[in-house]
Amino acid sequence: MAAEAARGLLVTFEGPEGSGKTTQLPLVARWLETLHFPVLCTREPGGTRVGERIRAVLHDPSFTEMAPVTEILLYSASRAQHVAEIIRPALAEGHIVLCDRYYDSTYAYQGFGRALSLDELRSITRFATGGLVPDVTLYLDLEPEVGLQRRLQGGEEMNRLDREALDFHRRVREGYWTLVRQEPQRWLVIDAQGTVAEVQARIRDALHPRLYHAANSLNRDAIEQGGRV
Ligand code: TMP
Repeated sequence: MAAEAARGLLVTFEGPEGSGKTTQLPLVARWLETLHFPVLCTREPGGTRVGERIRAVLHDPSFTEMAPVTEILLYSASRAQHVAEIIRPALAEGHIVLCDRYYDSTYAYQGFGRALSLDELRSITRFATGGLVPDVTLYLDLEPEVGLQRRLQGGEEMNRLDREALDFHRRVREGYWTLVRQEPQRWLVIDAQGTVAEVQARIRDALHPRLYHAANSLNRDAIEQGGRV
């Protein structure tokens, strides 16, 4: 569960490049809004004025000299601001917060991808977040080759991490699976292959029972009446 004071629900979206999180998240938001839930959509790195500036530095492909420790501290700095300024207040107001990436990205990319110490990453993360854990994490699983191809075909800009070698992205995917195995109760694994509508249907099916069981102060009636759309 999220921090004791939180009344809302923190749902994070994770996955490799091109897994479709960023397309799927607003569709989930729209679904929840039709059920009359207060929803807040946000993303990492970024989500705040300070964080968006940090994001620009992190993703600038010209910063090839960035040291791995600098990278992790910048992601964590963005996260600290995000938790304090956006996520905790929204949870306290009873929102369902949908967050495109959170600290599991740090474990997958910096921990497994860059082989930094997971123990150290966990303690930096605890410091940055004050221990705020997602209630539910959706993992959109896709082979890295397919995801990177999708990105290229979609004409999306390739950021500094997209440009890493395929081996790096394979380690990231393996890393996600390790994280899922370590905490199976928090994760919902979604097959990210197929059309947007197919993946969205899988997400709703998986998320629906979690809404029902986890939401304390959320709109239970709405879930019961219209949870499956
Ligand atoms: P995206 O969310 O648009 O895919 O871009 C975010 C990029 O930043 C992606 O390559 C993953 C990377 N990332 C990390 O390496 N560590 C982190 O902690 C976060 C939040 C993102």
